[in-house]
Amino acid sequence: MTKGNFYITTPIYYPSDKLHIGHSYTTVAADAMARYKRLKGFDVMFLTGTDEHGQKIQRIADEKGVTPKAYVDNIVGGIKKLWELMKISNDKFIRTTDPYHERAVQKIFKRLYDQGDIYKSEYEGWYCTPCESFWTQTQLNDNKCPDCGRPVELTKEESYFFRLSKYQNALIQYIEEHPEFIQPESRRNEMMNNFLKVGLEDLCVSRTTFDWGIPVEFDKGHVVYVWIDALSNYITALGYLSEDESLFEKFWPANVHLVGKEIVRFHTIIWPAMLMALGLPLPKQVFGHGWLVLAGGKMSKSKGNVVDPVVLVKKYGLDAIRYFLLREVPFGSDGLFSNEALIGRINADLANDLGNLVSRTVAMIDKYFDGIIPDERAEGDFDQDLMETVLAAPAKVDEKMDSLEFSAALVEIWKAISRTNKYIDETAPWLLAKDESQKPRLAQVMYNLAESIRIVSVLIQPFMVETPEKIWEQLGILDAKETQWDSVYSWGGYQSGNRVQKGVVLFPRIDLEQEMEDLSKLETGKDLSKQKKAGKKTDHQEKEEKKEQEDSLITIDDFAKIQFRTVTVIEAEKVEGADKLLKLKVRMGDEVRQVVSGIAKYYTPEEIIGKNLILVANLKPVKLRGIESQGMILAASDDNTLSLVTLDKALQSGLKVT
Ligand code: ME8
Ligand code: MG
Repeated sequence: MTKGNFYITTPIYYPSDKLHIGHSYTTVAADAMARYKRLKGFDVMFLTGTDEHGQKIQRIADEKGVTPKAYVDNIVGGIKKLWELMKISNDKFIRTTDPYHERAVQKIFKRLYDQGDIYKSEYEGWYCTPCESFWTQTQLNDNKCPDCGRPVELTKEESYFFRLSKYQNALIQYIEEHPEFIQPESRRNEMMNNFLKVGLEDLCVSRTTFDWGIPVEFDKGHVVYVWIDALSNYITALGYLSEDESLFEKFWPANVHLVGKEIVRFHTIIWPAMLMALGLPLPKQVFGHGWLVLAGGKMSKSKGNVVDPVVLVKKYGLDAIRYFLLREVPFGSDGLFSNEALIGRINADLANDLGNLVSRTVAMIDKYFDGIIPDERAEGDFDQDLMETVLAAPAKVDEKMDSLEFSAALVEIWKAISRTNKYIDETAPWLLAKDESQKPRLAQVMYNLAESIRIVSVLIQPFMVETPEKIWEQLGILDAKETQWDSVYSWGGYQSGNRVQKGVVLFPRIDLEQEMEDLSKLETGKDLSKQKKAGKKTDHQEKEEKKEQEDSLITIDDFAKIQFRTVTVIEAEKVEGADKLLKLKVRMGDEVRQVVSGIAKYYTPEEIIGKNLILVANLKPVKLRGIESQGMILAASDDNTLSLVTLDKALQSGLKVT
């Protein structure tokens, strides 16, 4: 029997090939909540996805010489793999390039236009011609383009606008009547005082200067601009305005949209106004969490601060990372991510408190009773207090989870763990074991330990996804009844016939100093051999690292799949309407190839003709701005310039490069 429906979302992520641990934050939190609600018996819909349109994506793709779709496909594949690695239990993954989403957004746009909530006007802004981008006055840097630093021109562009201003009073009233709608409270006050009460301006919702977006079906030069496209995902994913709206009927309105604090404004002003315009109910809550500030700045490798989630998971294990993300900082506040803090938590909370408790208990049951706790047991001192403390945890976890206080929920579970560790000291089982007449008492102590651990192992399930099963294996728990959420509100679920089994160390201790040193070496790529000699890694880490190094190596066969050829440029011209692109004709032996390349900022057509370059000749052809590109020429670039790879002696074209 289901307890009801529960719909939770993360924001949809911008495709980026540099996902850092901060990006995993919203998703891991949403995953913990979704898992919790499922354990409680709710019918859960957990949505995540990617936000794939816009000028920025188009520009990067142009620079890389691929289509925007090919570019995002590749990155979205990586994002999905990351969520798999982190065991994210989303029920659905939406891409804003999914055809069903594009169709529904077109319908939403048309409906809002037909009813007068969207109208056509002019957008005034600053235009940077080389970058092909619009900027508002406040975005400019010294009145220059913030991207390239060149002068900008004041331009007008025909645009559609959403009548956001019309909803100002209705929004203020709604937020005042529903204090739970924007959480935490500080964010509600910020929205009210800094935006709603200051006054809302209508929002530009279409663009004509680029085409990587959902076309406005009744005005072909326009594409839907960002927020109407992106925010609609929360309802299009449920089939809104499709042939089958059953999921929408079932799950809308959402229980909670989890979002980072920088996008609370879009979710609590634009989104509810859109929903009001569509005559739909508003989500019950938008929760704006804080930022994980990455110590040492961006991807600071030299400082021994690894922020790549894949590396972190491989190095420290998934549950350690998930635990850290949810435990370290109260959800809602900003917090610092550092490898040092992570290792500190692993050693104290996981290796010491939880890991040791499990391994000591299992080892004692194994040693004193050959793995099975006898039925003949005697109660004694400390039992009552232990039971009370451990049994207090479930209700407190429920309370904290319902207000998205992940860290506080974990604190409650760790109170039970600490109490149980203290119980070992109090009862001193090693002394009981010396006295044969104390066997029944020793059995009771072992039972209470096993039962406490069982309760803890059930409670950590929303947060940790590998550890609970490892614990069950070690405690010999086979019956699913013992692992259900509703089994932890009363004492005695652990079946005394269970046979414990010593197993792997759940969380190996890490030598902090050594690890920080190793991290900085690993990251600068120096001295891998010396690291091994240091020999302070666990076998697991050793193996993982070796595998990682092997993974990034390719064999000669892999290399042979790529056909590099020498080519000579025989024609070059600019591509109309795309200031970054040059269209080249290159000779490759007897063949002539057409190649479109994002190098126009760095080479004029005149200076490139005659150059001997290297072409990746067996790349699938792609169309850029409607022009087919049959291969890719090699170049290197830094922030300021780009240099083509040329031959340093003149050779004929068409030669294999090996
Ligand atoms: O904003 N700490 O996508 P996004 C905590 N596409 N959270 C972080 C973080 C950090 N260091 N870095 C990123 C977008 N995030 C839009 C959303 S929704 C209709 C459209 C979080 O890829 C960030 O706060 O920039 C946000 O919640 C999520 O990652 C996606 O960010
Ligand atoms: Mg962002």
